[in-house]
Amino acid sequence: MGKITFIAHDQTEHVVDFEAGASVMQVAVDNAIPGIDGDCGGECACGTCHIIVAKEWFNKTGAPGQDEEQMLSMTPERTETSRLGCQVRTTEAMDGITVRLPEFQM
Ligand code: FES
Repeated sequence: MGKITFIAHDQTEHVVDFEAGASVMQVAVDNAIPGIDGDCGGECACGTCHIIVAKEWFNKTGAPGQDEEQMLSMTPERTETSRLGCQVRTTEAMDGITVRLPEFQM
C-alpha cells in the first residue's frame, strides 16, 4: 500500500492509495482522477494516460519500452519525465510519488 499524489493542470491535488502492482493509470481511473482517461484499457495504444513524473521520482518508474516510447513521441505535451501511466507498474518504493497531469490527453 502506498500513496500517489496526482496534480491536475489547474494545480488541484488528489492523494490516493494504491496497492503495489496496479498501474498508475489504473489507480487514477479507479479513483476517478480527472485528466487521465486510459481509453485503451492499458494496452499502450491510445496515449490518453500521459503523466509527468516528478523529477525526483522518475528513476523509480523504470524506463519506457519501445511501444511506450513510440506513443510518447506523438504526445504534444511530452516532457523529459513523461510516461504513460498504464506502463508504470506501482511498487512499494513508489510510496509518496507525485505525478502531474497534462492539460490535454491525446
Ligand atoms: S491507457 Fe492507453 S496508452 Fe495507456
